[in-house]
Amino acid sequence: MQKKIIIAIDGHSSTGKSSFAKAIAARMGYLYVDTGAMYRAVTLYALRHGFISPQGDVEEDRLTSALPAVTITFVRDADGRNMTCLNGENVEHEIRDIRVSSYVSRVSAIAAVRAHLVRLQQQMGIDKGIVMDGRDIGTVVFPAAEMKIFMTADPHVRAERRYKEMKSNGSTVSFDDVLANVLRRDYEDENRSVTPLRRAPDALLLDNSRLSPEEQMEWLEKQLGVPCAGTE
Ligand code: DC
Repeated sequence: MQKKIIIAIDGHSSTGKSSFAKAIAARMGYLYVDTGAMYRAVTLYALRHGFISPQGDVEEDRLTSALPAVTITFVRDADGRNMTCLNGENVEHEIRDIRVSSYVSRVSAIAAVRAHLVRLQQQMGIDKGIVMDGRDIGTVVFPAAEMKIFMTADPHVRAERRYKEMKSNGSTVSFDDVLANVLRRDYEDENRSVTPLRRAPDALLLDNSRLSPEEQMEWLEKQLGVPCAGTE
């Protein structure tokens, strides 16, 4: 039996962080935590309570005072999928909608929101045996994580993957718009004033532009020095 560790995964958008993190957690029998879902849940809370104006301005003071009343948990549904709960209510679908997506970067730039969520994330990792993905996991949440991975891929490859996914969901979006969105999100993530996206100096770089999911898992096993299955 191996000692449980913390695996911190950060990186650019549309690099498949959450799919990889989920696959690692399933292989190792670890808990998976999607921190983007937590920022999305707080955004939903702010929208529901009228803390975001129609122009998109967030009432920071009111949201900050309400934070102690915001609890976020994860439960598994019957098919083993992770469901995000806001104060006990399953909001997994609602947090992915366009309304939440368009305000989440503003809410996640608020220092008090970050402090609240970072605290919750650190509590979730207290017993280790956790795979957490986000933008600041290896730098802020778990700077002493035993394994840190920073994921990236060529922007054109990421845009191509997202474009195919959106097309198969019936979207009429153009490839150029998807590429512009990928580049804009990179810029916003790397240039925001509060905890911008950075690769921790000790994070392993995983460029998956030309890797299949199976090859990514082989890469991980090589880094860990053991097969992932049954390492709990
Ligand atoms: O990964 P995602 O698209 O679901 O993330 C939603 C938003 O939350 C995105 O704007 C980046 C932000 N985020 C963050 O600031 N810090 C994290 N640890 C995770 C996500």
